[in-house]
Amino acid sequence: MPGKKRTTREPAADVRNLKPKTEPPLSGDAVDITLPLRVVDIPPDDFERAVKDVVPLPLPLVQAGRPLPMDLFLPRIKGEGGGVEMVRFLAAGRAPTQRMLKLVREAGLDTFYCHRTQLDNLIDFMGQETSRRLADHATPPQIKAKLLYDQASLIVEQAMTEVRLGPNLEHGRQYVESVAEYVQSSPQALESLAEMLVMDYSLYTHSVNVCLLSTAFAAFQGMPGNQVHDLGVGALYHDIGKRGIPEGILKKPGPLNDEEWKVMRDHPREGFELLRPHAAFPPEGLRVVFLHHENLDGSGYPFGLTAGQLQQNERIVRLVDVYDAITSVRVYKTAQHAFEGIQIMREELESKISMDMLKRFVEFLGLLSPRPGRLGRETNQPRRQAARSLSLPGGTSQGDT
Ligand SMILES: [Fe+2]
Repeated sequence: MPGKKRTTREPAADVRNLKPKTEPPLSGDAVDITLPLRVVDIPPDDFERAVKDVVPLPLPLVQAGRPLPMDLFLPRIKGEGGGVEMVRFLAAGRAPTQRMLKLVREAGLDTFYCHRTQLDNLIDFMGQETSRRLADHATPPQIKAKLLYDQASLIVEQAMTEVRLGPNLEHGRQYVESVAEYVQSSPQALESLAEMLVMDYSLYTHSVNVCLLSTAFAAFQGMPGNQVHDLGVGALYHDIGKRGIPEGILKKPGPLNDEEWKVMRDHPREGFELLRPHAAFPPEGLRVVFLHHENLDGSGYPFGLTAGQLQQNERIVRLVDVYDAITSVRVYKTAQHAFEGIQIMREELESKISMDMLKRFVEFLGLLSPRPGRLGRETNQPRRQAARSLSLPGGTSQGDT
């Protein structure tokens, strides 16, 4: 109220909203921020709860003066022992100012968050941003690779969780076009993408890894661009049939019983049935989804096909699928290094996958990384941090959206 005198009875929240006199309010096309912004590490449980309904967006992708099609949130400590909440930093359609971004960056926060209900807008935004940066010669390969990795993670996550598949498939198709073009652009492109692969296994990271590795490996073998694309689309969606499988089976630490195995082994057919009605999904990609668990000796599923019946695409995805599973951390095992992973594949899968192809795959991995060990990073998780004294008068908590 104008002219009202502040008293000591006023709630703490109002005090936090006051702006220091020495600092003019952050203005422009967005909300105000109260200074100072202090960032603290937060416990894993609080973090997990806070990010349940949001997805990360790396701060460098947000540019001053550029409006965004989705709300941006930042994590904030609720108060005395109250956990962490997401607070809206910027409303959809608005552009952040230089100063707002500088403040967040200098405080040490490196990630914004977007609500899952706006995932479509975020994927659109990421797609535009990726195309723009891939065409920009000044953007380092690491940034390009990170963008491609993050965009794929969003697409896969949406494919695995949303009922409506059509718009997602279009995103996936466009995405693989960018990847196929990029992996053929230079050896640095391949290497930087390989470094992005994540060791920590989840359905999402696995699909992204298999898509990127299969696409890059196919390009390495000289496969024509349009075929690389169809293979890449199939690889990105190869496990989509698992989206209906209960977590209890997917993440079971011990061996599956007969009934659970039956459910698990049905995922290639389930994926095929999900994708078949979508006319734009390439037939070659559909084959990959249906046949990525077939082995050359007839021991695979669902059909038990043999070498003469299996094409290059499904063979590549089968090989990369196994490689990524072996060299990732799972609930029931630690990750094998690349070298050990290849050894295991040589010894245990001799009759199941092509040993010639495995040899070329080793050459391909050698090209990507002269270092021993599994390519890639431990995890793709953002840092577990929140702002302690972040106060956004124009913002709302996540629950208000
Ligand atoms: Fe699979």
